[in-house]
Parts: sequence; structure tokens; C-alpha cells
Amino acid sequence: MIEYSLKCIECGREYSKEDIYTCECGGLLEVSIKDADISFKLDGLLSGVWKYRSLLPIKIDPITLKEGNTPLYRCKKIEEILKKEGVNSEVYVKHEGANPSGSFKDRGMTVGVTKAIELDKKAVACASTGNTSASMAMYAAKAGIRAYVLLPAGKVALGKVAQALMHGAKVIGIRGNFDQALEIIREICKIEGFYLLNSVNPFRLEGQKTIAFEIADEIGVPDRVILPVGNAGNISAIYKGFKELVKFGLTDSIPKMTGIQAKGANPVFRAIIEGKKDIDPVKNPETVATAIRIGQPVNAKKAIRAIYESKGTAEEVSDEEIIDAQKILASLEGIGVEPASAASIAGLIKLAKEGVIENGEKIVCITTGHLLKDPETVIKVCGKPIEVDANVEAVRSVL
Ligand SMILES: Cc1ncc(COP(=O)(O)O)c(C=O)c1O
Ligand SMILES: [Zn+2]
Repeated sequence: MIEYSLKCIECGREYSKEDIYTCECGGLLEVSIKDADISFKLDGLLSGVWKYRSLLPIKIDPITLKEGNTPLYRCKKIEEILKKEGVNSEVYVKHEGANPSGSFKDRGMTVGVTKAIELDKKAVACASTGNTSASMAMYAAKAGIRAYVLLPAGKVALGKVAQALMHGAKVIGIRGNFDQALEIIREICKIEGFYLLNSVNPFRLEGQKTIAFEIADEIGVPDRVILPVGNAGNISAIYKGFKELVKFGLTDSIPKMTGIQAKGANPVFRAIIEGKKDIDPVKNPETVATAIRIGQPVNAKKAIRAIYESKGTAEEVSDEEIIDAQKILASLEGIGVEPASAASIAGLIKLAKEGVIENGEKIVCITTGHLLKDPETVIKVCGKPIEVDANVEAVRSVL
């Protein structure tokens, strides 16, 4: 048994109908859970998103590809780097790149596509910087419904486009950026009756809150969670997850939610340092971390609230800091992530240098997507392999 409604974060209006994305006042909606029979224990035995089914607003059998249950690594070499800045802390990385499609989006899509089936939708759609489309296409394939994807042409990492295509989505590139793509697909969903699966969809975010549940399940509630912020859905979802654990008496604290943006796409960061409740959009966002190349995050208001209420913060990092962090994670910890994900580590190091991270903090950085998502950036950064003649001497000469 789970009792819930969709509630507007602006005016508080509640809806029992589920086939909507925003309030009549224009405000964002969230799933407000009134009551639930909790049937899981935080016993450290992870089994994926659906372990937490009693807090997920779904009435039918899930469309699942066994998402979640991602590895949480203690990262002692990163702790050493922080020590050099005078900070002693416990650092973990939760590697969401280990999900079936290689990003955290699968947690949202297993719930979102299941909701599409529950609502008897025949097609799902999204605008995407890449990972959303890859994940949605995969779950739509599993569910046997059509998938439509709108991308900023030429600005999506190759691995992600390949996934969306192979899983059978109709993939359309627009000569514009992500923010424009989202505006267009929202309109098309209204006209065509497609189910919109961007993170403005409150049910999708319900799946993503299980990142919080898994962290608390495995190591208890940390002091701080650091993650990259693009459209700002994930930070809002994870915060909601930690709040629900407190609400249902399973834990008693909330981590400082810490959002990291790229310098060229930093509206949430700017709002936080200026003490504002909403963003000024960035008109022409640009960064090597294409997944977070977003100038007008649709969930900004939820994310900014999450940061203020949890006494967290936001930071911006340069493309150079992002690539350095990507190399650090890959070469010192054996964790391969895409550039956007490395922003969380770049942010951690920067916040430690600035004295924001306190001694003794237990910190979890979320790495949101897998290294292989963006092979082109890797080749640009690392160069191509050395090529030699096919004999032992030639190979030995370059060892
Ligand atoms: C790898 C990766 N990291 C971070 C993000 C940002 O997540 P959100 O849009 O929920 O802020 C995305 C979104 O596309 C992503 O693909
Ligand atoms: Zn409202």
C-alpha cells in the first residue's frame, strides 16, 4: 500500500490524476507520499531499484533491466589528494555508469516507462544531451512501445547516439541546443499524446531517488553528496530520497547536497552564490561535458531548494579541471567515467582547496555515466595509440 498525490512545489495544489507534468500555475510537481507500508530494511543487501518498491508510486509489474545496485567504492587515493589540501575525509564514489545503459538515467526510466505502460501510453519521448535518450530507448524496447528522441545535432557524445539508434528509437537532431529541444518536445508531446520522459516528469525522478536509498543502505547517511548538475533533476531526486528515509523513520539526517556545474553552463551555481531562489538562464551553454551543457535547467527551483534546505552548496569547474579529474579517477582509482561525471570529483577537489569541505566529512561523489559513453573526448585527451611495425623489436623500442 502506498498513498500519494502529485503536489505543486510552488502553490501546494494537489492532483490525483497522474497524466500531467506541471501544475496549472506552471510550478513543478513532485510525488508527495502520504503513507506507505515499508517492506524493505536498510540491511546493506542491495538488489536494485525495485528493492524499494514500497516507496515507488507504481501499481503494475515493473519494466526492469535490473538497474541500480551500483558499486560504491572507497577512494583512498582521492583522500590522499584532499589530505594535501589539509582535509581529512572519507571519500566514496557511487558509480552509476555501472547501470544497464551506462548511466543513472536507468533508475528513472525503469519507473518512468513503467508509468507510461500503466497510463496506457503507446509512445514515449524526450529531449536529451544523450544519456536520457539511450536509457529511454532501451526501456521502450523492453516495454515494446515507440520512442522519439530530440537531440542537439552534433553535440551529443557518440556512444549515446549509438545506443538510442540501436535500441530502435526515432532519433532527430535539431540545429539548436538542449534547452530548445526540450521546449519543442514538450509541445510535441502535448499535440501527439506521447509520454514525456524528461526529468520534468515527477515519476521519473522517483526512480532516481533510489540512489539515496542505496547509499544509506550500504554506508548510512553521509555528511555530503556531490554530483554534477545539468537539468537539475538528479540532485532534486536524491535529496527527496534522503528526506523520505527520515520521514518514514529509517534514518535521522540529511547530507549536504552539493551540485557541480561546468563554468560554461553554470546557472544553478550563479543562483546559489548570489543567494537567489531561481536562475538567470545561460543563453549559449558550452562545455566539454556535453551531458551537462544546459543553460536553463527545468528543475532549477527544486535543486536550489534542495541545496539551501540541506545546507549544501554549488561550485563551478572548468573544462580543464573536469578532464584532470576524469584522468585522476581513471588512472588512480580504476573508475572510468564520462566528463560530466568527473565534474563531481573536480568539484570535490576545488571545494577542499577552498576550505569548504570540513575535516572528518564522509562524502559520496556520484559518477553519473560510463567512460565509454564519450570515446571521442578520450581520444582527444589521451591521443591515439602508438602504431609500429609488426615485430618484437619495433614494439620493444616504444615500451
Ligand atoms: C552523465 C550525466 N551526468 C549528469 C547529468 C545531469 O543530470 P541532471 O540533468 O539530472 O542534473 C546528466 C544528464 O543528462 C548526465 O547524462
Ligand atoms: Zn501550482
